[in-house]
Amino acid sequence: MTTESAKKGDSVDTGVMIPGSILDEEVSVTKMPKEESKEKEIEIYDLPGVGAATAEKLKEAGYDNVMSIAVASPGKMVDDAGVSEAVGRKMIQAARDSLKMGFLSGIEVLERRAKVLKISTGSKAFNELLGGGFETGSIVECFGEFGSGKTQIGHLLAVNCQKDDPDSVAIYIDTENTFRPERIKQLAEGAGLDPDKVLKNIKVAKAYNSDHQMLLAEKVPELITREGLKVKVVIVDSLTAHFRAEFIGRGTLAERQQKINRHMHTLLRIADLHNTCVFVSNQVQADPAQFFGDPTKAVGGHIVAHASTFRIYLRKGKKGSRVAKLIDAPNLPDGECNFMVETEGLRDL
Ligand code: GTP
Ligand code: MG
Repeated sequence: MTTESAKKGDSVDTGVMIPGSILDEEVSVTKMPKEESKEKEIEIYDLPGVGAATAEKLKEAGYDNVMSIAVASPGKMVDDAGVSEAVGRKMIQAARDSLKMGFLSGIEVLERRAKVLKISTGSKAFNELLGGGFETGSIVECFGEFGSGKTQIGHLLAVNCQKDDPDSVAIYIDTENTFRPERIKQLAEGAGLDPDKVLKNIKVAKAYNSDHQMLLAEKVPELITREGLKVKVVIVDSLTAHFRAEFIGRGTLAERQQKINRHMHTLLRIADLHNTCVFVSNQVQADPAQFFGDPTKAVGGHIVAHASTFRIYLRKGKKGSRVAKLIDAPNLPDGECNFMVETEGLRDL
């Protein structure tokens, strides 16, 4: 296990830290005991076809436990571990067998749910709407028009996830160049936290196009397993802007949706395997088919809608307030709430 030791300052080569920003100082990393490896006896080394060299490659690519291999595809094994597809298939099958994947009893699912954390929004009404706050282990999609507060909520989650555990880390994938450390400082002060410490625990990366965005998301498991970061929240703001700008016209729709689908699955795996809250912001577009009611719908269509665990529609309300409408949640009723965006954070009306 020598190769595993977190090498501080070993920046991931996709540039997860913006060079020259105040954020690329080292974060003091306390290595987390790996929960998954506690639960399972079998190690990557025990899989057929995995020798020392392959194990090394797998770890480099962020596969540090059997579960991560069990949920991979043979094609990924070819790319990431340099093995043939047949060997990759065998490895995945053995990993799946060893984990007895498939069915858990309801009790076991309930036990897993006990590990879910709720990240407070600072607004009582908003928390109540979400059953306590933004859940880890889920993808939460916020969609709404410009200025409706999506980026504000992204910033807020990056701060508030550090409230209960000062070692928590937020990852911010910024596609619209709207991440503002100054805003983080205000929110941290509002939450009674040390602004500099909060900033240190936020890892920001600008995504320059959709491929870069996807690559950055794929690197997140590495930050968790190799560098030992306790990643509580991954923010992708905005999820769809690059895709929307790059794929124009009907002819490109299928390809765009395929790519978004892949990206959503990467995010879903992060949420599920690492008990992380993935927050994605999404734009709206005019829906010409809608004659009555609100003529807007979220970009990304069914792919984004189905992959998201919670969906929140944000809009501007009366007197500068914001309205959040929960439109899809597995265990909560639909509903609405009002709140204000203030310098220190969110406030109830
Ligand atoms: P797009 O990214 O353009 O689609 O919009 P968005 O949904 O991300 O909007 P965003 O979260 O950037 O919301 C911007 C709004 O938040 C501003 O118009 C302000 O109303 C509010 N806001 C931002 N910062 C502050 C602040 O420091 N104090 C207060 N009171 N309001 C703020
Ligand atoms: Mg925004």
